Amino acid sequence: MRIYKVGGAVRDRLLGIPVTDIDRVVVGATTEEMLAQGFRPVGADFPVFLHPKTGEEYALARTERKSGRGYGGFTFHASPEVTLEEDLIRRDLTINAMAEDDQQNLTDPYHGQRDLEARLLRHVSPAFAEDPLRVLRVARFAARYAELGFTVAPETLELMRQLSESGELEALTAERSWKEISRALMENQPQVFIEVLRACGALKVLMPEIDALFGVPQPEAHHPEIDTGAHTLSVLEQAAQHKQPLTVRWACLLHDLGKGLTPEEEWPRHIAHELKGLKLIKAVNERFKAPRDCQELALLVGEYHTHGHRALELKPSILLELLQSFDVYRRPQRFEEFIAACEMDARGRKGLEQRSYPQADYLRGAAHAARSVAVQPLLEKGFKGPELGEAIKRERLKALKAYKEAASA
Ligand code: CTP
Repeated sequence: MRIYKVGGAVRDRLLGIPVTDIDRVVVGATTEEMLAQGFRPVGADFPVFLHPKTGEEYALARTERKSGRGYGGFTFHASPEVTLEEDLIRRDLTINAMAEDDQQNLTDPYHGQRDLEARLLRHVSPAFAEDPLRVLRVARFAARYAELGFTVAPETLELMRQLSESGELEALTAERSWKEISRALMENQPQVFIEVLRACGALKVLMPEIDALFGVPQPEAHHPEIDTGAHTLSVLEQAAQHKQPLTVRWACLLHDLGKGLTPEEEWPRHIAHELKGLKLIKAVNERFKAPRDCQELALLVGEYHTHGHRALELKPSILLELLQSFDVYRRPQRFEEFIAACEMDARGRKGLEQRSYPQADYLRGAAHAARSVAVQPLLEKGFKGPELGEAIKRERLKALKAYKEAASA
């Protein structure tokens, strides 16, 4: 049997990027031979094994044929006769379809190295269409390698467009899609992921709520970039530049969905877009079964981001309601993430990227003031149950009034 490194490990080594996990393909072996050498099978009918010591993946060379719609619709054909070239041709991109042996001899029948040099994400063959998830994968690679100058080859974008129009994307499971989306959002240029999905028509299918933001104007005085879609991408870009976690990036992406619902005659104003957007945020959250912390933050940021921007003008009673809505006493981290998302929103405006955001420290100070209210003295005064709750709220309101006065003095 012959063993080769394949896929990302070869690609990233050639790009000079640290390689994290290594996939290997095994040519000329049977399942029985693998088992006899101590390899552990990964799934019942999937010809993939884990190395007994390193735990790394070894897959038998295989050809894949599509036999139906969706991810279930695959038949695998793995046998010792399948050649390395046959295995590589069913892969997604030329830069992912290279193999190398132990001596770093490269097998590159589909010119991956040429495309690496040309900075092109190009599909290997029409077999690309056999897995619609690849539309998201290509967009994710575009986001990851944008800094290196990579773009999607026009013919690949065209194939992605056909796949998006064919209805195949609807067959993807929430889990597979979310995995790609969440990884893409954590890349350095996550806005490129959305741009590529939009360019091939996939955004309209996967997240029509975001697609609808392009072409929707906002008041130029607050938003020099005007377009709501362009603004959303800039907010996401800021979130990545500021190394924000996934929760914040997800909330940034979804914060303005309500603006897509504004009737044209009301443009460029978007009255109550915060509340109107909530049902759309909920729909996107549920469509991809986003993790609970991502869902929660996206809804809270959607509802309250303009409160964040107006923090310094908020009455103490409204400030208190805001802090209560976030349960800032038990969930301080979530409020920090809210503040971060608001700041990214403010910075995601053309020409205002560097402007300071004093609301952030003001909100932190307010949270601190409210949290500093001690419960013990109220207990000692004999407050219990709902009365205790009310007494704590009164004290917090007092603390916030004092905080606001001190801050404006
Ligand atoms: N592959 C594919 N189509 C898919 C998934 C994977 O063709 N839908 C192939 C590609 O050749 C890819 C390899 O399987 O390079 C390994 O896949 P994976 O580990 O998901 O990706 P990597 O390319 O290693 O990239 P990453 O750095 O994102 O893990």
